[in-house]
Amino acid sequence: MSEPTTNQANTEHLNAAASGQFQIGGDLQVNRLGFGAMRVTGKGIWGEPDDREESLRVLRRLPELGVDLIDTADSYGPYVSEYLIAEGLAPYQKGSVIATKGGLTRHGPDIWLSVGRPEYLRQCVLMSLRRLKLEQIPLWQLHRIDPKVPRDEQFGVMKAMQDEGLIRHLGLSEVSVEEIQAAQKVFSVATVQNLYNLVTRQSEEVLDYCEAHTIGFIPWFPLAAGSLARPGSLLDELAHKYGTSASGVALAWVLRRSPVMLPIPGTSKVAHLEENVAAARIQLSDADFSALSEQGKQEEARAKSQQTAR
Ligand SMILES: NC(=O)c1ccc[n+]([C@@H]2O[C@H](COP(=O)([O-])OP(=O)(O)OC[C@H]3O[C@@H](n4cnc5c(N)ncnc54)[C@H](OP(=O)(O)O)[C@@H]3O)[C@@H](O)[C@H]2O)c1
Repeated sequence: MSEPTTNQANTEHLNAAASGQFQIGGDLQVNRLGFGAMRVTGKGIWGEPDDREESLRVLRRLPELGVDLIDTADSYGPYVSEYLIAEGLAPYQKGSVIATKGGLTRHGPDIWLSVGRPEYLRQCVLMSLRRLKLEQIPLWQLHRIDPKVPRDEQFGVMKAMQDEGLIRHLGLSEVSVEEIQAAQKVFSVATVQNLYNLVTRQSEEVLDYCEAHTIGFIPWFPLAAGSLARPGSLLDELAHKYGTSASGVALAWVLRRSPVMLPIPGTSKVAHLEENVAAARIQLSDADFSALSEQGKQEEARAKSQQTAR
């Protein structure tokens, strides 16, 4: 028998399976700790990444680490992220869930404009299928509801594409409970992707709704911890206690917050990916979880009052 490679040896200890499992749409089982593929692009999420080979190494490391939920969007790059995923991972390992999004156009670095006209959303899906080398998109999410287009027209074409078999499950991004309920009149909402982390908690009500209805909640920017991560803080202390970094504790807190939570931390570096997957094993004690929850809320309130004062 040959010696295991370094990667194989590491994989025995590092696995996203330690984060627990969730069934997207009731039938696509994934390990709860996923990966966000927005960072394998250029500055401003525009163009090619600085280190293309390292980005490909990050993607190819995902199945070795048990990361089977990969989130992307046609607008990341644009197209760069989807093309790289296909280059690095197609044909995909059985059980991989490639989740993409559409409905945002790009006019330059950091510029995102929504277009929700049904004919455009259909093109988004058809072109993502081609770029990702998929026959069906396991999870397609409307990146933003376009306020310029009646939302039922956007939901209607999503449902039509699901009925045609182009998409298995449907999700939404940056939505309120009222918007989820409106979409649910047209199709079954499998996931909701909103900004959420230890110190950004305006989506608590949406998260509670998702938990009550077994909808996967995908928090974006899950690693953020704001000034809570400063040296000498509780977060810093807990990072030492649990043998991780501040972002590792922030991720462990997010995972612990709800069984429907599917965080998708993103990185362009294998070392950071491995550090993030290591956080899947961290089980915060009840007391540490509660103390962090409280401090996170206080930090959010402090940041808001500073903004108001400006
Ligand atoms: N639906 C939406 O509107 C929306 C919006 C934004 C993002 N998203 C999705 O959510 C995913 C995550 O969001 P995000 O990328 O904004 O936030 P994030 O994953 O919380 O943070 C990513 C940033 O943290 C750094 N990082 C990652 N792991 C690290 C580690 N272990 N140590 C130190 N730094 C680390 C990355 O830089 P390095 O590359 O240097 O590691 C990157 O700058 C995206 O990839 C995307 O799929 C969705």
